[in-house]
Amino acid sequence: MTSGMRKWHVSYQRTIGYEVENCPNIFHPQNTALLSVGKRENTRRFVVVDGNVEKYFSAEIRNYFNAHKVDAKIVTFRSGEENKSVDNYLWILRELDAFPINRRDEPIIAIGGGVLTDVVGFVASSYRRGVPHIKIPTTLMGYIDASVGIKTGVNFNENKNRLGSFEPPKKVFLDRVFLKTLPKRQILNGVCEILKLAIIKDPMLFELLESHGAACVDSKFQDEIGGSILNLSIEGMIEELEPNLFEENLARKVDFGHTFSYGLETHHDAQLLHGEAVLIDMIVSSILAKARNLLSCEELNRIFDLVAGLGIVIRNDLVSPELLWNSLEERTYHRNGLQRVPLPAGIGNCTFVNDINFEEIQSACKILENRMVIDDTVYEYRS
Ligand SMILES: NC(=O)c1ccc[n+]([C@@H]2O[C@H](COP(=O)([O-])OP(=O)(O)OC[C@H]3O[C@@H](n4cnc5c(N)ncnc54)[C@H](O)[C@@H]3O)[C@@H](O)[C@H]2O)c1
Repeated sequence: MTSGMRKWHVSYQRTIGYEVENCPNIFHPQNTALLSVGKRENTRRFVVVDGNVEKYFSAEIRNYFNAHKVDAKIVTFRSGEENKSVDNYLWILRELDAFPINRRDEPIIAIGGGVLTDVVGFVASSYRRGVPHIKIPTTLMGYIDASVGIKTGVNFNENKNRLGSFEPPKKVFLDRVFLKTLPKRQILNGVCEILKLAIIKDPMLFELLESHGAACVDSKFQDEIGGSILNLSIEGMIEELEPNLFEENLARKVDFGHTFSYGLETHHDAQLLHGEAVLIDMIVSSILAKARNLLSCEELNRIFDLVAGLGIVIRNDLVSPELLWNSLEERTYHRNGLQRVPLPAGIGNCTFVNDINFEEIQSACKILENRMVIDDTVYEYRS
């Protein structure tokens, strides 16, 4: 072989492992769980806290670090989708760089909803080519979804999560006390993601929601059954994410509700929360599934009834077939040229389809508009 013909193969395997752990009273001064990751003595922490969480938990959080003699820089971040920006990402980086931390054993701590943990995760993955971080979700959306996986991101060029990375946290600590101060709309926003898991993979979770969902919404998941629903949701989410952490397989059950929602939330960002857009998508997808005989009339009615029973409003006034179709086309591009749309196949199961056409979407929208539940022969009107 001549010297010009050489080639080199580089291979390296990195094991990923982190715990998602229920940790009640995380900021009680005697609870040392949060400081179990990283250096304990003579140590610093860069902490980013959601502005609304600061309102309620500021004293507890500050007392905690003082009690443990940790030199903590606490930065307050204003959440909401409009703040998931490159500017805010850079602002946090500047604050961090001015502090700064030891890059191996002083993990950044992110305390907030999905917006905050996504932005701070991206900061952690890019600062000095990666520093450790810990997530403490404070919204239901964060608790059962955003904090559980390894995706980070910020919105860019008017596209959601266009910049981001896959960055595993060192640890995720779950303390449902934070849900107590969450407005009801935000609770329901997270419930939509629980509903997603129930419809496409967990019939028991679906039944639990049918019998106890509304009470859990009222108690903000503080009761025993609420805790079980949260645990089941996280378990289901991890079961789906773990074998496909880097999304090599683009046919993902957890994308149920995430095909048409993309266009809806981009177009109606001032009016729809993420979960609310996901809900519209799940309903349209379920109507499509019924039309293809993947769901029975009774099963479709159960889904409608559950949504109504939970007190979630379906904003069908924001839906148009063109918007849904454009979103499907964008997601097809995102999913490497195939639609890969998960549709429910019975309650608790799902299948993937690649051939949804515009006419099907049009008739699904019509049904949604009239709030009709289609039977094979009878058209039953539900107001
Ligand atoms: N990384 C992922 O895998 C993943 C998964 C799902 C969603 N997400 C992302 O999550 C984001 C949505 O997250 P979100 O719904 O948590 O939104 P969010 O982070 O904007 O929080 C919603 C609102 O709740 C407030 N809040 C947070 N905790 C509170 C508390 N304990 N008490 C009172 N108010 C509180 C916030 O200030 C904000 O106003 C989206 O950007 C979405 O893309 C990411």
